[in-house]
Amino acid sequence: MTVIRSQIVGCGSFLPDRILTNAELASRLDTSDEWIASRTGIRRRHIAGDGERTTDLALKAAQRALKDADLPVEEIDLVICATTTPDETFPSVASAIQARIGMTRGAAFDVQAVCSGFIYGLAVADNFIKARQAKTVLLIGAETMSRLMDWTDRTTCVLFGDGAGAVVLRGSKGRGIPSERGVLNTKLYSDGRLHDLLYVDGGPSTTGTTGHLRMLGKEVFKHAVINIADSIESSVEDSGISISEIDWFVPHQANQRILEATARRLKVPGERFISTISDHGNTSAASVPLALDVAVRDGRIKQGDVVMLEAMGGGLTWGAALLRW
Ligand code: UT7
Repeated sequence: MTVIRSQIVGCGSFLPDRILTNAELASRLDTSDEWIASRTGIRRRHIAGDGERTTDLALKAAQRALKDADLPVEEIDLVICATTTPDETFPSVASAIQARIGMTRGAAFDVQAVCSGFIYGLAVADNFIKARQAKTVLLIGAETMSRLMDWTDRTTCVLFGDGAGAVVLRGSKGRGIPSERGVLNTKLYSDGRLHDLLYVDGGPSTTGTTGHLRMLGKEVFKHAVINIADSIESSVEDSGISISEIDWFVPHQANQRILEATARRLKVPGERFISTISDHGNTSAASVPLALDVAVRDGRIKQGDVVMLEAMGGGLTWGAALLRW
């Protein structure tokens, strides 16, 4: 039987120039490099410059992904941007990207699932391709999380950074067997009752302001390890591939201790988890495609490898995506 499978045919990423170190944060807050590094693994993060918007980061990542895919803009049917920090309440970042890459047909919209946004976006893109509503999709995860920080709150502002990552997905015909390249499955979950663990205390229909990110970190940590491990296990169960066959895990980069605890829970070596947390911090929906691009560029992820992407974030939302590179 012939089936359509979505393959990632190009990827790219972009980080703003300005680097904010733990030492710099410690010079203005009651914190230390030692505390931040030992509790989170973060040593530095990139911060968008004045006037540098989410769309600017997204555009550079998208252009790199399109170049890597070696596809003209005319081939793109759909632009999806996963973001929780759009330039404006509307229109979407994806619409702005559509215009800035010179795309004059097709559709564009944003996906809002906070740190799980890229996994949600990948599931949407994959389903559009499998339903034959799009052949080629440009999927971006882009954030300026620095704009949501309360820079006097040491429990949150040391954790986040800005950046963008992008992939180009394209439908290809195959037999639907695990050895063929492409997205093998996606798993999405949410539990809206857990709003108070991680949210922004503002918005257009409440305060009329952007608001600041608020988090009960310890509680989120506990849910993260359990939920991420569960979604990985359910993805593996449906795929005909065992956990030991997964070459690389590309996790949401929230905390090095979450990566290590997840690896222990799944009984897989921690070295198989790609970690960019020390240099990027938590870039929300951008963190998975940023880490993916790093590991593809440095040659760790190679054609034919089995790759598990996973994330958890505000909502709470969480999920996983299994693919053969
Ligand atoms: O991307 C969405 C998903 N997000 C996450 O997955 C984040 C999950 N949570 C975490 O990564 C961790 O819970 C944190 C990094 C946020 C916090 O680490 P923790 O080990 O859970 O620390 P804690 O919140 O229990 O705080 C321990 C102590 C507290 O002081 P007391 O009450 O023991 O005196 C905090 O006030 O550390 C204090 N503290 C800090 N000290 C220095 C909190 N933040 C800081 C700081 N510098 N930046």
